[in-house]
Amino acid sequence: MHLIVYKGIRVSTSDSTTNILTMDSNIKSVGILTSGGDAPGMNAAIRAATRAGISNGMRVYGIYRGYRGLVSDEIEEFQTNSVSNIIQQGGTILKTARSEDFTTVEGRKKAYENIKKHNIDALVVIGGDGSLTGAGIFANEFNIPVVGLPGTIDNDLNGTDTTIGYDTALNTIMQSMDRLRDTATSHERLFFVEVMGRNCGFLALNSAIASGAEAAIIPEISIEKDQLAELIEQGFRKSKNSSMVLVTESEITGGAIQLAERVKKEYPWYDVRVTILGHLQRGGSPTAQDRILASRMGIAAIQALLENQRNVMIGIRENEIVYVPFKRAIKKEREISDEMLEVLRISSI
Ligand code: F6P
Repeated sequence: MHLIVYKGIRVSTSDSTTNILTMDSNIKSVGILTSGGDAPGMNAAIRAATRAGISNGMRVYGIYRGYRGLVSDEIEEFQTNSVSNIIQQGGTILKTARSEDFTTVEGRKKAYENIKKHNIDALVVIGGDGSLTGAGIFANEFNIPVVGLPGTIDNDLNGTDTTIGYDTALNTIMQSMDRLRDTATSHERLFFVEVMGRNCGFLALNSAIASGAEAAIIPEISIEKDQLAELIEQGFRKSKNSSMVLVTESEITGGAIQLAERVKKEYPWYDVRVTILGHLQRGGSPTAQDRILASRMGIAAIQALLENQRNVMIGIRENEIVYVPFKRAIKKEREISDEMLEVLRISSI
């Protein structure tokens, strides 16, 4: 599907003939919110969705502090210039929060009342799996059209090749790894570097490949085997005078501190250090890839609403925009590719 929304006109370029269709939808106003952990590129998505909404004759509302602001009525009408000069900024101008109230029926009822008060017909929710789960519940309870955008550095949503913020976070980790390598090599040390991702190893595996790390210890593989023991038994340092191991923060991997403690006890000849990159990974100006992805997805969200889609997340597959039902998007079934594991294994010998 190649669809462009431009000044109230849908231009379909799915074949050689270009169709121009005028829009006919009941949705006259849309509210946009960001929820859960912030991710670089969220601002680009807010900007694109705002301008696509306005281009299509809608009123657009910015909802501050995610679902919390929906419950407490922190809602403001946006104009095109409300989102000027933000595409390059990390974080989210709409702020984000985790709302206890929204997990209760009473809280969601208040949220619904505020939506009605502002005559908002539909919502665009930008966030990760928790945010999209909340969006699905709310949409079903109150029959509100909701479209989600995958905004998370973890890249842990199903049905999309990548998420907004993931590429920037990968680059941030890679740059940090380059710096850490300098000191690791100088001191001939073994570094465990912990990265985010919850129970998902995409950040660790792909930043390991990009930074030339020796290994990645990720939850998906830790369930099956003791990756640390395997690495050491294989003599993974060989002739190298430093080693860098990426570790996903997770109870399943044990995290970098626990692994380092184990090495100190079981393999005391290594000079071990730990770095936890933490929230550093969530900040920073989005990469071009994230800005473009977020812009495409923000426009696609409005397009989806105009097509009367609801309860879907906008995804990207093989560079095409796709609609993924919330239920599928939040299923924890994304698999790490064997090919990527092999790339790391072979390139780090
Ligand atoms: O989901 C994004 C994420 O950054 C995870 O990788 C991480 O586990 C979590 O959020 C941290 O959340 P918080 O900012 O609430 O500490």
